[in-house]
Amino acid sequence: MKGLILSGGHGTRLRPITYSQQKQLIPVANKPILFYAIEDVIECGIRDIGIIVGSNKEQVMETVNNANFGAEIIFIEQEAPLGLAHAVLISEEFLRDESFVMYLGDNILKHGIIRYIEHFRQSDADASILLTPVDNPSQFGVAELNGDGSIIKLIEKPKEPPSNLALVGIYMFKPIIFDAVKRIKPSWRGELEITDALQRLIEDGFMIDSEIVHGWWKDSGKPEDILHANRLVLDDLTHEIKEKEDVKGEIRGRVSIDIGTKVNESSVIKGPALIGTGCVIKDSYVGPYTSIGNNCKIINSEVEDSVIMDGARVVSAGNIVDSMIGRDVVIEKNKYLPKGNKFIIGDNSWVRI
Ligand code: TTP
Repeated sequence: MKGLILSGGHGTRLRPITYSQQKQLIPVANKPILFYAIEDVIECGIRDIGIIVGSNKEQVMETVNNANFGAEIIFIEQEAPLGLAHAVLISEEFLRDESFVMYLGDNILKHGIIRYIEHFRQSDADASILLTPVDNPSQFGVAELNGDGSIIKLIEKPKEPPSNLALVGIYMFKPIIFDAVKRIKPSWRGELEITDALQRLIEDGFMIDSEIVHGWWKDSGKPEDILHANRLVLDDLTHEIKEKEDVKGEIRGRVSIDIGTKVNESSVIKGPALIGTGCVIKDSYVGPYTSIGNNCKIINSEVEDSVIMDGARVVSAGNIVDSMIGRDVVIEKNKYLPKGNKFIIGDNSWVRI
């Protein structure tokens, strides 16, 4: 089997972060979201992986190549985000006549995908999709199932959902899917929809199986999803202080601090919290569910339930909660006249003070 991981798209709902950073490279618990997908695929013994890349292809390629996953990874350029079925279509030469798993690179699953892959390998199904119960099925692609879990019908964002089972971004296919993706037309939103391709297979009498996801699954489309995914991953954090002599403050609960990070005696860190290398935490409180990247400074401030990316500086900034702070961002108290809040922030940023 081969793997196809999608790391294209514009990530408009995560602006302004995605103006400079491809969505799938945003860190969750200090690791690019994309790496969770790559690791899950490799864990299944799959060694041939194609990654779909879009306009920010260089940064995706560089980040993945620097990580040395020990798998054969190639990059497939998608001229524009023309749909999930379009991503399959342009990957035919790479996938050829093998079965493959398609994994959306902005999805994270607690328990990985081994059990689903094993099941698919042993089954006669022509495709299999993962489903999860949701409270608001009208906002998802929804499946109507037979008693044995096979799919009767798939409907995009139904007004009257036939079930509460939404499609998760992991699909397993036999090569017959190429016939289907070649025969569908773009939807009203101009994309080749994978649900249309699957529906085509069902109508042609092929068998589409389904499985309900075990444990949590997160699609990180919006800022609150990134913060939620960060909380879910930090729930399993292991306590590890790499250089104890540099960590003088009070540490409560499960906290992971990497090398070269200094925490002074008047700081408090309450886990689960994760801090990268080369940071300075001084006279500050770092609260639960916070991930701080590398080379950050948190001085005379309080940070909680937040994702702080590499090189950010937070100085005398009061309490920061439920926040995503991008790379090299500076948030500091205004020491100069006139008094008041001063901003130099990019398009589509938002501030709540
Ligand atoms: P979406 O979340 O639907 O799209 P997006 O990432 O562009 O985000 P937004 O809606 O905020 O603009 O895409 C799901 C995943 O699939 C995501 O990881 C991007 C990827 N993708 C591609 O690689 N190519 C495509 O043609 C599409 C539609 C998505």
